[in-house]
Amino acid sequence: MGTQKLAVYGGARAVPEGLIREWPPVDETDKDLVMKSLMGGKHAFGPNCEAFQKEYAKWNGSKYAIFTNSGTAALHMGVYACGIGAGDHVLVTSYSWSSSATCILHHNAVPIFVDIDFNTINMDVDKIEAAITPRTKAIIVVHLHGLAVNMEKVLAIAKKHKLKVIEDACQGHGAMFRGRKTGNWGDCGAFSFNQNKCLCSGEGGMFVTDNEQIYKDALKLWSFGETSTPSEKRDYHAYALGWMYRGSDLVAAFGRAQLAKIDGYIKIQNENAAVLNKRLKELKGLILPYEPERGMHNWYNYTSRIDMDAIGWKGNQQAMRNAVMKALQAEGVPVGVWQSFALPEMTVFRAKNAYGHGCPWSCNGAGDGVEYKIEDYPMAVKHTDTHFGMTTPLRAPNRTDVAEKVADAFIKVFENIDKIDPDKILK
Ligand SMILES: Cc1ncc(COP(=O)(O)O)c(C=O)c1O
Repeated sequence: MGTQKLAVYGGARAVPEGLIREWPPVDETDKDLVMKSLMGGKHAFGPNCEAFQKEYAKWNGSKYAIFTNSGTAALHMGVYACGIGAGDHVLVTSYSWSSSATCILHHNAVPIFVDIDFNTINMDVDKIEAAITPRTKAIIVVHLHGLAVNMEKVLAIAKKHKLKVIEDACQGHGAMFRGRKTGNWGDCGAFSFNQNKCLCSGEGGMFVTDNEQIYKDALKLWSFGETSTPSEKRDYHAYALGWMYRGSDLVAAFGRAQLAKIDGYIKIQNENAAVLNKRLKELKGLILPYEPERGMHNWYNYTSRIDMDAIGWKGNQQAMRNAVMKALQAEGVPVGVWQSFALPEMTVFRAKNAYGHGCPWSCNGAGDGVEYKIEDYPMAVKHTDTHFGMTTPLRAPNRTDVAEKVADAFIKVFENIDKIDPDKILK
């Protein structure tokens, strides 16, 4: 393929137009449940919300589940229900979605970042202990891109230092560590059902826990500080500081219909990823996603990195990465950069002023000695400069015929990598 003309320079594209179909597949079962909800007259926290909670808890193997209007809401509920308050420190990975860490600020606590392990892109579990301070109360682990964190190591550290563990499983549906699904390892977990997630209900989320007290506390934050759910007899009394994090019946109906198909979806994602892993493994310059021996990936995002040394690139790394992405896009592969900033680089943390008046950092000296210097997170920086990912081609209804074409495109681009000129492509 090294002699083929790249599509970005006017050659024929490797992936035919229209071959890759959109996520998620919607069929009669989705339409049926959503229409029944629409005509059912209970549009707020209705019967589909209750059923979705039960069905999700059963599917995930969790004792309690609370349906929320986002994954971020579920994370914030976890922070509160784990007893974290003003001025506490919470450890979190240095590379994730912003709300993996802003959920800590939501409860006026201070995030302390831990660098990632470059191979797994997850929090480097061997760097957790060094980040613990006398104020540390909890660890938020993120099962990034559907690869479960080594939870045995995390739980051992948490036990030793008496810390709570919150799992950000917003990308982790069905992903397993040693045969056990995410969300069930720590004190509680949070899932997202936003558009791109392995379970899409449009927007939405689920809080899960096996702990009755954590469940009861999370319920308060979820719904106006009340102790009863909308399906029970309410006294409309705010017993605690509450938000309004409930999901709606229409969204739950869509989520339920998709949940019935999720095992099939995850199987397809694994089959498609297997094609890519096999065909791309010898490709010079491409670092493929880490494949766990000890668990199951859900392949939420097939994230690769460019090995700049292997391709002999000495110039600006982001420019080269962006040019390679453009070349792949021109071949018909929808690749993109999921998150281009490491969390400690984000202004919301650097400005140290989330709640105004310098809070939470100014709270009882909570921010003393806390610095967000990007040099402290070299693996996160290396990752942000060189990675790119894709979701849709791995998802149903796309099958291995699509994965084969996508593999053709990767091979074509990487076998012609010496012809990729960022100055020409990015102008
Ligand atoms: C790792 C991670 N955490 C948290 C979230 C937040 O989920 P939501 O958008 O449902 O609030 C997302 C979603 O983008 C995510 O990817």
